[in-house]
Amino acid sequence: DDTKAGVKGLVDAGILNIPKIFVRPAEDLAADELNSGHKNVEVPIIDVSNIGDSIRRQEIVNEVKIASGEWGFFQVINHGIPLSVLDEMIEGIRLFNEQDLELKMELYSRDGAKKVKFLSNFDIYTSKALDWKDTLQLSLLDFDPDPSEMPPLLSEALGLQPDHLNSIGCSKGCSIVAHYYPPCPQPELTLGVRKHADAGILTVLLQNHIGGLQVLHDDQWFDVHPIRGGLVINIGDLLQVLSNDKFKSVKHRAIASHVGPRISVPCFFSGHASLLDKPFGPIKDLLSEANPPRYKEFLLKEYLAKFFSSSLDDNKLPLDDY
Ligand code: SIN
Ligand code: FE2
Repeated sequence: DDTKAGVKGLVDAGILNIPKIFVRPAEDLAADELNSGHKNVEVPIIDVSNIGDSIRRQEIVNEVKIASGEWGFFQVINHGIPLSVLDEMIEGIRLFNEQDLELKMELYSRDGAKKVKFLSNFDIYTSKALDWKDTLQLSLLDFDPDPSEMPPLLSEALGLQPDHLNSIGCSKGCSIVAHYYPPCPQPELTLGVRKHADAGILTVLLQNHIGGLQVLHDDQWFDVHPIRGGLVINIGDLLQVLSNDKFKSVKHRAIASHVGPRISVPCFFSGHASLLDKPFGPIKDLLSEANPPRYKEFLLKEYLAKFFSSSLDDNKLPLDDY
């Protein structure tokens, strides 16, 4: 199985032309969509340093509300996680990917039940074209993180009690996925990650200085510029449903580049395991005659099974079926 060496294996072998399986159809690559005419607009950046001040806190709630509703994406700065911790995380991922292949391959697996695994393109057998990246995945579905400010801020931004999203299990259960995007000899023919939306509740992403993440906004691609120490936050499909479309789960992609490696570490919060068997739909407190539910209730278990068994190409929200 020669996929075990990953995309980095191809680069190390010195290829000058990328294998056909990585070449995307031209319409996926259309460069003219990029940033044209919107130079004065940027993915929102939210400074949370003075969150202890009650007036500033209210402003932050409002910024989260606008960013989540209009962009589905924002960057948080001055969140209190030491820079050294973030730098070490990036460096650890780099060292993992650049160690001897035999050692890295000990973790190679395509078994969905494995909690820690290294692989390239989870949908390798179903997708039309592959992404230019390798991935180390750590599944922490029983993870119960320390209380963080983000769920209360999002709850308040929806007009709910600060504890609402926490109380229904939204901040539990997470997968940490570390992507390594090697430099690409023909970046104009492929993508680091193809266009998709995230399936879960919320994604918190750390990226290194290379850049390449782009967000679709008003039918145009906008760069999410790397900020040292910043964290990118985006709304997933499930939070779009819970919020009854007040918050948007927005399509994004990462472009490939001659320079690298680009490293990114998204943490996908998918909710507590107890949510899996219960009907899932818009939060009742948000609904009214003027704001009727836009989604029928569905089983999270079925939705997630469908997401992970199809290709990222086809992932246009199974919600459309509901
Ligand atoms: C992803 O959306 O799956 C990864 C995005 C990134 O690497 O920045
Ligand atoms: Fe994503």
